[in-house]
Amino acid sequence: MAIPFFFLYLLLLLLLLSVLSSPFSSAAPSDTLSEGSSLSIENTNDVLISQSGIFSAGFFPVGDNAYCFTIWFTEPFCDNNCSVIWMANRDQPVNGKKSKLSLLHSGNLLLIDAGRSIVWATNTASQFSIKLRLHDNGNLFLYEKEGGRVLWQSFDYPTDTLLPQQPLTKDRQLVSSRSRSNYSSGFYKLYFDSDNVLRLRYDSPETSSIYWPNTWLLTWDGGRSTFNSSRIAFFDSLGNFTSSDDFTFTSPDYGMRVQRILKIDCDGNLRLYSRENVRNKWIVSWQAMSQPCRIHGICGPNSMCNYVPSSGRRCSCLPGFKAKDYSDWSLGCEPELNRSCSRDEISYLKLSNVEFFGYEYGFFPNYTLQMCEDLCSKMCNCKGFQLRFSRRYYPSNIPYCYPKKALLNGQYSPHFDGDIYLKVPKTSGFSSSYKHVEDSVLDCSVKNVVQLNRTYSKSHQNGTLKSVMWFAFGVGVVEFFSIVLVWYFLIRNQNNLGAANQGYFCVESCFRKFTLSEIKRATKGFTEEIGRGGGGIVYKGILSDDRVAAIKLLHEAYQGEEEFRAEVSTFGKLNHMNLIEMWGYCAEGKHRLLVYKYMEHGSLAENLLSSTLDWEKRFDIAVGTAKGLAYLHEECLEWVLHCDVKPQNILLDSDYQPKVSDFGLSRPLKRGNCKVSSRFSRIRGTRGYMAPEWVFNLPITSKVDVYSYGIVLLEIVTGKGPTVEMEHQRLVIQVREKMKKEAVDSVIEMIIDPKLEGKYDRAKMEILVMVALNCVNEDREARPSMKQVVEMLLHQESP
Ligand SMILES: *[C@@H]1O[C@H](CO)[C@@H](O)[C@H](O)[C@H]1NC(C)=O
Ligand SMILES: *[C@@H]1O[C@H](CO)[C@@H](O)[C@H](O)[C@H]1NC(C)=O
Ligand SMILES: *[C@@H]1O[C@H](CO)[C@@H](O)[C@H](O)[C@H]1NC(C)=O
Ligand SMILES: *[C@@H]1O[C@H](CO)[C@@H](O)[C@H](O)[C@H]1NC(C)=O
Ligand SMILES: *[C@@H]1O[C@H](CO)[C@@H](O)[C@H](O)[C@H]1NC(C)=O
Ligand SMILES: *[C@@H]1O[C@H](CO)[C@@H](O)[C@H](O)[C@H]1NC(C)=O
Ligand SMILES: *[C@@H]1O[C@H](CO)[C@@H](O)[C@H](O)[C@H]1NC(C)=O
Repeated sequence: MAIPFFFLYLLLLLLLLSVLSSPFSSAAPSDTLSEGSSLSIENTNDVLISQSGIFSAGFFPVGDNAYCFTIWFTEPFCDNNCSVIWMANRDQPVNGKKSKLSLLHSGNLLLIDAGRSIVWATNTASQFSIKLRLHDNGNLFLYEKEGGRVLWQSFDYPTDTLLPQQPLTKDRQLVSSRSRSNYSSGFYKLYFDSDNVLRLRYDSPETSSIYWPNTWLLTWDGGRSTFNSSRIAFFDSLGNFTSSDDFTFTSPDYGMRVQRILKIDCDGNLRLYSRENVRNKWIVSWQAMSQPCRIHGICGPNSMCNYVPSSGRRCSCLPGFKAKDYSDWSLGCEPELNRSCSRDEISYLKLSNVEFFGYEYGFFPNYTLQMCEDLCSKMCNCKGFQLRFSRRYYPSNIPYCYPKKALLNGQYSPHFDGDIYLKVPKTSGFSSSYKHVEDSVLDCSVKNVVQLNRTYSKSHQNGTLKSVMWFAFGVGVVEFFSIVLVWYFLIRNQNNLGAANQGYFCVESCFRKFTLSEIKRATKGFTEEIGRGGGGIVYKGILSDDRVAAIKLLHEAYQGEEEFRAEVSTFGKLNHMNLIEMWGYCAEGKHRLLVYKYMEHGSLAENLLSSTLDWEKRFDIAVGTAKGLAYLHEECLEWVLHCDVKPQNILLDSDYQPKVSDFGLSRPLKRGNCKVSSRFSRIRGTRGYMAPEWVFNLPITSKVDVYSYGIVLLEIVTGKGPTVEMEHQRLVIQVREKMKKEAVDSVIEMIIDPKLEGKYDRAKMEILVMVALNCVNEDREARPSMKQVVEMLLHQESP
């Protein structure tokens, strides 16, 4: 007994001395691992942290008792949601005991599972002394201390994410993860093809196909070049992506000092994300595919992908098929019925507006329905055929027949002008006009998590065990004291460190519940009112961490707190550069409050009245607002209507970038429309901006927002708000009338805001006016979608 305590005492003394002489020497996290040492999975402090704390590298849990050696953005409290950027062993996780990453004297870096087997190695060797270091740009590299030669670096072996300046090169690819919670290799890949073009490919065990860029575009039509064989792509720290095949894009937040990652997501889309720092959420600033159903393999074989903005992307089996696994649609559907090859026993079921991509026996021009049916019936393995008039081939006024070997990449699209005829048994009893019923929302998370072997080879128990345990106990106590001490010094140094750390530590969880007393303190008892309307009064407030907030006190006493919380946190999850950032909410008693980021420049309405907005700013606001709304309507999986788009609800940040606000009051619409939910059984919206559907009691769709947006555009052009209710409608009619008689530019000159003093880009202005007129069409079908508006404005094509 006495001996361990004596040791403990000695150790404590030693530790105290060393801690006192240099407070951080024992606990400061390091960014390097030296030769001969290792990171152990059992020691949670065995993490490399880059010099300024942006990146961490260590063991990361990927399942129950399953870990991967990973690099992630250092985010406190990220739990399972850390922004992982690299993994060494994504397909072979290691056990939670006795696993370690060891840097051998020989120069090899090994990942050892449960003290037994090597699951990953860099296979490097060096005669010199070497180190492993995590750089501030997220690169983990192995280098020789003398001379600094780099033996190996994680930047050369990307998993599914690229960081700024990290190149994607020949023979390397980004591979998506299997699902949001399963980090193992999935089916989607970004790579340089043998013709030097950067592509996205779906690569499952059974099939493989390219879906980006569009395969039917000739390479040079898609703006790609096949002649540069250097095969390298990367994006720079300002947000400019370049690829050696001439493909480039620029992030809309170009030049801003933000964190960015380019990632191939588990749904097969390639996205550029950005965020200001770990306090903020990742925001999609660019994506390769705007139509999610065009991503191959998304619903597996024998199924159809249907993308309805109101319900997101859905998968459903073709008639006569059933899903293999409802939790993993990539497996698709299998036949329920026995197939027959005998011509007397088969018939064809027509599915309109359905397209299956690829896997045909060929294409047969000028085939009638009967001819095509005969052709398919002759082939036992023909699963059905597509019949359509082709725009791609000449002559285009004849039907083309495409008998199908397999039914893959199916998609339903009301705009597709072809039909599929599915081969079914005559006895199946499908009526010829089939309507599909069974729909399932696509969820890219796989629930079953694999548990690794939990048996470990035990070490021999012998007489020394007791003293080992005592020693461990001693170390534990020492650790405790050293933590207390270090903590003390950290607190003491907080004032100096605080400023430096602020960028990286989100003190509280980013979207959270506030207490009423916190809110009262922040708003100094609701003293500084900055706005009214939209169901509440808005106050300016300063949160305890010095962030400036706009706090909205809602008029209506809402339903239960739980329901309110659930609803509001849905909006907290929406993130886009052009949507207002929501920080949290408060629900106490009958008070319901929302906490947003404060916008320096107030609303568009105020700015249009003053003369702060020149032409460039106005055009940017038009585009940004359209992007925000398009995101609400289409890109986030839970579809949201705004229902009250107006200049008062478009806020401007310090750079005059627009942020759509107040969408928190319209529900995400899982099915049905604005009127389904009880809270909105009455009409929502503001007179002067409301689409005719409201008045005529027609179904409310996303096109109501398009209409209101059109009015906002007119206001941006003319600088006039609707003073009398009818004024805008009258303006619309007047402009339309004038357009019939006169040239567009003379009409523009008549209506343009005099505050612009004639300084504007004529071509862009024409587009703006034309888009506005399209948006305010009385017929909602004739209005474009917000997505189309964005495209028209960005590419400046006439609608
Ligand atoms: C992690 O992220 C997902 C989706 O982004 C979200 O649904 C979930 O609530 C997050 N979990 C935590 C603990 O933040
Ligand atoms: C992005 O890079 C490309 C190619 O290097 C260049 O042509 C383009 O001007 C850059 N864009 C910006 C906004 O700097
Ligand atoms: C090929 O692409 C690389 C990287 O974009 C560029 O530096 C190089 O100049 C290109 N070569 C030719 C011949 O265009
Ligand atoms: C399919 O065929 C098998 C064996 O030939 C038979 O047992 C089964 O009942 C058939 N199923 C249907 C739906 O006809
Ligand atoms: C298509 O076929 C019909 C009869 O089968 C024929 O009269 C017609 O000329 C053909 N059209 C073309 C463009 O080949
Ligand atoms: C992830 O998915 C793969 C493929 O379906 C599966 O083999 C693996 O066990 C899964 N891993 C985890 C941790 O669930
Ligand atoms: C688990 O590990 C033990 C010890 O190595 C081995 O005997 C056993 O077969 C393993 N079980 C599985 C399912 O891999």
